[in-house]
Amino acid sequence: MSYSATRARVEDYFDRTATKTWERLTSDAPVSRVRETVRAGRDRMRELILSRLPADLTGMRVLDAGCGPGMATIELAKRGATVVAADISPQLIDIAELRLPHRYRDQVTFHAGDMLDPGLGRFDAMIGMDSLIYYTADDIGSALSELEKRVAGPIVFTVAPRTPALMLMWYAGKAFPRSDRSPVMIPHAHPKLARAAKASGVRRMLRPVDRVTSGFYISEAMELRP
Ligand SMILES: C[S@@+](CC[C@H](N)C(=O)[O-])C[C@H]1O[C@@H](n2cnc3c(N)ncnc32)[C@H](O)[C@@H]1O
Repeated sequence: MSYSATRARVEDYFDRTATKTWERLTSDAPVSRVRETVRAGRDRMRELILSRLPADLTGMRVLDAGCGPGMATIELAKRGATVVAADISPQLIDIAELRLPHRYRDQVTFHAGDMLDPGLGRFDAMIGMDSLIYYTADDIGSALSELEKRVAGPIVFTVAPRTPALMLMWYAGKAFPRSDRSPVMIPHAHPKLARAAKASGVRRMLRPVDRVTSGFYISEAMELRP
């Protein structure tokens, strides 16, 4: 129940409230100083996540889970992968489709819907940049347990780490419930998330990779490897 309620809030936020903001943030268009730091941090995080996959992805089927406007999708396709780019926001999927250079069209399938949909099939690797940051530890554990059954190779994703700054923002968000129903990130510490993953039946070890901090952008990459 908690997963579908969070997903509904996320969809509402990205598909209606924040579509334009995300379209701009993920383009070359000028943005505020604060958003510039977020953009720079996100660029570093995308590079970090992609560095966990083989340089040559030819012959590999990769899931870009919660692809948003598709920045990582393009990079995966450039490296030769066959990509399934899934996002719960049909509007962001439209933007991702429009932005994909024509030469990669045959390599990418877009899916407007849940990234955990078993109908998407089996994969050699998965990335999920900032797409699980709104979910509880138990929901992330269950999601990883589902994904582990269908992803043969690395599963690399990010969480909001439990830093003092993020915890402050989180408590402020709890104290002042928002009327716009925008989803609030849930910070996680690696040991508790690893326990939740194990309790959900995840067999592989959950490992922290690295953290990126850039102004208001704070995110930590983690991975499950066979
Ligand atoms: C913060 S954005 C990041 C987008 C993209 N990964 C990037 O880094 O540019 C999070 C994305 O995850 C998507 N998302 C969250 N939960 C999802 C779910 N259960 N299924 C599919 N997409 C989801 C949202 O719609 C949103 O586009």
